[in-house]
Amino acid sequence: MKKSRTASQGNGPKPASSPVTPKVGSYTAPAAFFVVLAILAYLSQAELGYHHGLFSAGIYEPYTDFRSIPKVGGEVNRVDAGREVYAAAGCVACHQPNGSGNPANGCPPLAKSDWVLAEGPARLIRIVLHGAQGPITVNGKPWNGNMTPFGPVLNDDQIANVLTFIRQSPEWGNNAGEVTPEMVKAVREKTASRTTQWTPAELEKIPETE
Ligand code: HEC
Repeated sequence: MKKSRTASQGNGPKPASSPVTPKVGSYTAPAAFFVVLAILAYLSQAELGYHHGLFSAGIYEPYTDFRSIPKVGGEVNRVDAGREVYAAAGCVACHQPNGSGNPANGCPPLAKSDWVLAEGPARLIRIVLHGAQGPITVNGKPWNGNMTPFGPVLNDDQIANVLTFIRQSPEWGNNAGEVTPEMVKAVREKTASRTTQWTPAELEKIPETE
């Protein structure tokens, strides 16, 4: 049976006597809306729960000075702490998160680099302390860029951590020896009078394990 058409459903002109007034206030939100709200409320609480940082004071002014990057659980895991320095100090901008380097701005790779995986860190510590400039060969490929010095902004712990990270980064597949703050301190003292960046040619004359 066909429903009869009412005036308001028709396409023709509406009779002046029955204006169609939209009903206001009679809309009921579907139950699904409240279910979604409840899920969002739950997720936002979960988010807070995950990220409250045990309400540590360190999270309120994080990295205002990256000398004070917090030690997780009071124990230093150099690779994890070094990963933070790698990001906070800006190594990541040039050498990239995956350590691939960046041919566009002359930054050589750190992942699997023969410089990074050297037997000892003598040259690496110098590169981070004073920077490097000039032709350099990394894994047989020539590069020629300019790396800024980090000696004035990173302390011995942070340099030890970031170098241990790049030497042992599991995500890059690197696996070389740890670098300790004592090693950095010794090189910093020995090279205290240095005011210019190293050239890779100069560095190659220094024994890796010095
Ligand atoms: C401004 C960009 C820039 C930043 C920031 C930077 N580097 Fe470099 N890095 C370079 C360039 C360019 C070279 C090559 C220098 C040359 O050509 O003589 C280099 C070379 C190196 C090398 C030796 C070559 C190799 O590929 O293995 C290491 C190790 C290294 N950087 C580590 C670091 C670490 C660790 C940091 C952070 C503390 C850092 N770099 C920050 C640009 C940068």
